[in-house]
Amino acid sequence: MIYHIPWIHTPVRTVLAIWNQLTKTEIPELAKCSVLMRERGRVEETIHSMQRAGAGSLQVISDFDMTLTRFAHNGRRVPTTHNILINRLLISEDCTQKLKVLLNTYYPIEIDPSRSVEEKLPLMVEWWTKVHELLIQQRIRKDLLAQAVNESGTMLRDGYKSFFDRLAEQQIPLLIFSAGVGDVLEEVIRQNQVFHPNVNIISNYMDFDPTGALQAFKGLLIHTFNKREGALSHAAGLKNLQGRPNVLLLGDSLGDLTMADGVSEHQNILTIGFLNDQVEERKESYINSFDIVLVKDETLDVPNAILSYITSSRDKK
Ligand code: TMP
Ligand code: MG
Repeated sequence: MIYHIPWIHTPVRTVLAIWNQLTKTEIPELAKCSVLMRERGRVEETIHSMQRAGAGSLQVISDFDMTLTRFAHNGRRVPTTHNILINRLLISEDCTQKLKVLLNTYYPIEIDPSRSVEEKLPLMVEWWTKVHELLIQQRIRKDLLAQAVNESGTMLRDGYKSFFDRLAEQQIPLLIFSAGVGDVLEEVIRQNQVFHPNVNIISNYMDFDPTGALQAFKGLLIHTFNKREGALSHAAGLKNLQGRPNVLLLGDSLGDLTMADGVSEHQNILTIGFLNDQVEERKESYINSFDIVLVKDETLDVPNAILSYITSSRDKK
C-alpha cells in the first residue's frame, strides 16, 4: 500500500537504492561478517554524501598502532612503535624487563571497559612518563632505529599499500595521529615505502643530543586519552587539512574518536573502529561509539573499499 503514497514512495525507493548500491554491488565489503554497524542507514547516507562531495573535500585521520599496523600475525602480537624499541641494540635487558612489566600492568587498564576515561587518564600519563624516562636513561641511538624497525617484525595491515597509495594519488591528506613514538612510526612507513608527501604525523618525537643519543621527548606528551588536546593544538593548524569538511577517521581505541576535534566546520565524519582484543566485553561500547566496527579484521579492506567508492567518479546524483 505505502508504494501508492507519493511522499513515501520516493524516500523508500531512494533508501532501497542506496542500500542496494552500497552493500550489494558498490561496497560488498560492508557485508563482511567482521563488520558491525549500529545505524547502517546513516553510514550509507554519509558515504553517499562524501562521494558526492568528492576526493577534494576529504581528509583521513588515522591512529597508528593496532589501527594501521596489525594487532597480531600467526598468533603473535605485532609490536607497537614503543615495543619496537625493545631490542638489545637499543636498550639493556634490565630495561626490557621493566618495560614489559609496565606493559603488563597498564595495557589491561587502557582497554578495561569497566573503568571510565577519567579514571584511566592519570594512569596513562603515569605509564607513558615511566616508559619515556626509562628510554631516555638508555640514551637510545638515533642511527640504530632503522635497524631495530627492520628486525622488529612490525607489519602494517593487509591492503596498506592501496590505502596509502590511493590517498597520495588523489592528494587526500592523511593525518596519522599516534600516541606511539613518531621517529619509529616514520621509519616503519618509510621502510614500507608509503611515506608519501600527503602524510602528516602528530606523535611523540624523540629529542637527540648532538651525539645522536636520546635526551628527551619533544612537546606535549600524547597518550591514548588526550588526543583531543593534540587535535586542537596541532591538527587544527595544518593548512592542507583546511577546506576539507569530510573526515574518515580510523582508530582502535575509544580515545581515538577525539582525533577529529580540531576539524572546524566539518560536514561528515565517518568513524571506523578496529576491535582487536576483548571483543565480547567491549563490543557494545564500540558499536555505540564508532559508525563501523571491524571485529578481529587484520585488513584495510573496508576502509579501502569505502575510499574507492568515495573517490570514484561515478554518477554523483
Ligand atoms: P597509538 O596511539 O598509535 O595507537 O599508540 C598507542 C599505543 O601504544 C597504545 O595502545 C598502547 C601502546 N603502548 C605500548 O605498546 N607500549 C608502551 O610502552 C606504551 C607507553 C604504549
Ligand atoms: Mg592504537
